[in-house]
Amino acid sequence: MPEKFDAVDVIRTKRDNGRLCEAQIDWVVDAYTRGVVADEQMAALAMAIFLNGMDRAEIARWTAAMIASGERMSFEKLSRPTCDKHSTGGVGDKITLPLAPLVACFDVAVPQLSGRGLGHTGGTLDKLEAIPGWQAALDNDRMMQILDEIGAVICAAGSGLAPADKKLYALRDITSTVEAIPLIASSIMSKKIAEGTGALVLDVKVGSGAFMKDIDQARELARTMVDLGVDAGVNTVALLTDMSRPLGRLIGNALEVQESVEVLAGGGPKDVVDLTCALAREMLTLAGKPDCDVEQALQDGRAMDVWKRMIAAQGGDPEAELPRAKETQDVFAEQDGVLTELDALSIGVASWRLGAGRARKEEQVQAGAGIEIHVEPGERVKAGQKLLTLHTDTPERFERAQESLVGGLVIDPDAAPGTGARGDVVLDRIG
Ligand code: URA
Repeated sequence: MPEKFDAVDVIRTKRDNGRLCEAQIDWVVDAYTRGVVADEQMAALAMAIFLNGMDRAEIARWTAAMIASGERMSFEKLSRPTCDKHSTGGVGDKITLPLAPLVACFDVAVPQLSGRGLGHTGGTLDKLEAIPGWQAALDNDRMMQILDEIGAVICAAGSGLAPADKKLYALRDITSTVEAIPLIASSIMSKKIAEGTGALVLDVKVGSGAFMKDIDQARELARTMVDLGVDAGVNTVALLTDMSRPLGRLIGNALEVQESVEVLAGGGPKDVVDLTCALAREMLTLAGKPDCDVEQALQDGRAMDVWKRMIAAQGGDPEAELPRAKETQDVFAEQDGVLTELDALSIGVASWRLGAGRARKEEQVQAGAGIEIHVEPGERVKAGQKLLTLHTDTPERFERAQESLVGGLVIDPDAAPGTGARGDVVLDRIG
């Protein structure tokens, strides 16, 4: 059968700032998935979309076409409501780890189909794989069984879910076309709608360590995704949250598991606890349970019990010692003053260069690599005081990691204490 359209015509339409019609969108997404539209043609189209945008109807159709490229799951057989959370990604963003078991304490099922890290933002699966024995891959039956018995599961998204997005996301990553609102919104929402969650809370990050550097862009992304969710029958809200600073004090795979366990034990840094609780409250409200005392479930060990069962169900040993990097190097304050800047992007890139992240999909991450932060922005420091500890198995990485910290940590001798301190982590809510 002849193809309905020619890829060159579709590219030209968008290049010249035109609208793609529904039939063109359905065809180009399907033909790309089938390999009829070549990578270089899709790369040109993605760049045209990046530069000229898409209107709401085009984005909705593009999302629908990506959903239609694969299977659709359903959690309707479960006895409890489902609610998922998706973050647009940031530095130190380990929130899924304490959040999924916390929400499951209240009889809401949390199916977290997660990914691996690429670039300076970490991936949830890489973090959990630092736990000895833990396996990311589950078939659908086992995933449903864990959800039914324990209430929370974090596992790799199967290859059948939105395959068009898998191919397109990998292409965008190497053609500098990731940061386009229509492409990010359709990529995230196609996977979440295909997954079949009943409700969804989006954590849209804003700041240097996020895709969206300013709040207006982040609001537009959040509004686009919320509309896509609601139109598809998924009860969706978004929180805009601060990613100008790293989340918490530990960055890296095993280090972030360690900090998540501290939160599940009732401790942990305030920003991680605040965001975990804020997202949990949103998820429970969408699932019809608005008055749950989530702080109490962290304090009294209920969330920790679910965590241990969830990890053990995937072969992990929740009591096992976590891997540590072979080498460490400290970073010291060069003068007295107030730490007015601790930039998320600089810390994320440094951690990635230490081996916590990967530059190419096929690379292995180091479980123990990353950064310990000893001082909060806004605190007064003395010359010679320890600010950071860098961790890696491969000490030749220290130099490049230190280079990425230049300008990311600022000590101002004249600033008042509190200057540069993190404000509220939740900046806005779109729902
Ligand atoms: N996460 C995704 O899944 N897709 C994007 O495009 C960006 C972040």
